[in-house]
Amino acid sequence: MRAMVIGTGRMGRLVREALDERGHTVSAFIGRHENAGGSALTPGRLKGIDVAIEFTTPTAAPANIARLLAAGVPVVSGTTGWFDQIPAMEELARARGGALLVSANFSVGVHVMLRAAKVLGAAMAGRTEFEGHIIETHHKQKKDAPSGTAIAIQSSVEEGGGKELPITSLRLGHVPGTHDLLYEGPHETLRLSHVARDRDVFASGAVIAAEWLVGRTGVYSFEDVLFGRTR
Ligand SMILES: NC(=O)c1ccc[n+]([C@@H]2O[C@H](COP(=O)([O-])OP(=O)(O)OC[C@H]3O[C@@H](n4cnc5c(N)ncnc54)[C@H](OP(=O)(O)O)[C@@H]3O)[C@@H](O)[C@H]2O)c1
Repeated sequence: MRAMVIGTGRMGRLVREALDERGHTVSAFIGRHENAGGSALTPGRLKGIDVAIEFTTPTAAPANIARLLAAGVPVVSGTTGWFDQIPAMEELARARGGALLVSANFSVGVHVMLRAAKVLGAAMAGRTEFEGHIIETHHKQKKDAPSGTAIAIQSSVEEGGGKELPITSLRLGHVPGTHDLLYEGPHETLRLSHVARDRDVFASGAVIAAEWLVGRTGVYSFEDVLFGRTR
């Protein structure tokens, strides 16, 4: 497939490598300087592109996605911190008959953890002797807090019937992403933990999502890619 990568930061560079490794063509690699307000994403530039993978910033993502959808290019976005605007982009994708897949986390392990968090939320509901808490740790450059994944864990616990758990965010060194769901009881600790050892896990997940999205229309999640459509 012919892919465009938008965002030339840590993730964008790894996505470019992952595309290359999986035998795809990277037709364009778009950075901030040429793309104020999505201005580089013109119909001419997007001609012949099968899919775009976007890892930028919360302020840049919506304009990029709107432009890509307007040009009929399927979009995978891993940018976090713009959750309020996701429904508007999903609406736009549906109205345009386009394809959009947004995920705050492209690791398989995290999505299995979300399912386990729902089970824990159900099992711990009403067990007042346990105090639940979510702790997420990321590198100091991460712009948003709490992480999108921590919010997703919180939602999964609630979907299972558990109450809203507090989230503590730590910003330390170069940590790619660690999420812990803790239940502290009087004499025991239950801990569900996910550690991303490097960022390649997210880059390869985003490329797998892009391969899956090409040829589809609609609004999808990474869960749909991993487990099939559940909604
Ligand atoms: N979904 C996941 O699995 C996952 C995993 C890791 C990270 N993330 C998220 O992905 C995003 C990027 O992370 P990162 O670590 O790659 O951050 P990063 O290294 O700061 O890279 C972001 C890049 O976006 C560029 N940019 C800003 N506005 C742009 C625009 N209009 N057009 C094109 N590029 C633009 C920035 O350019 P300048 O450097 O010139 O400002 C920067 O190079 C963050 O929101 C992060 O939380 C998601």
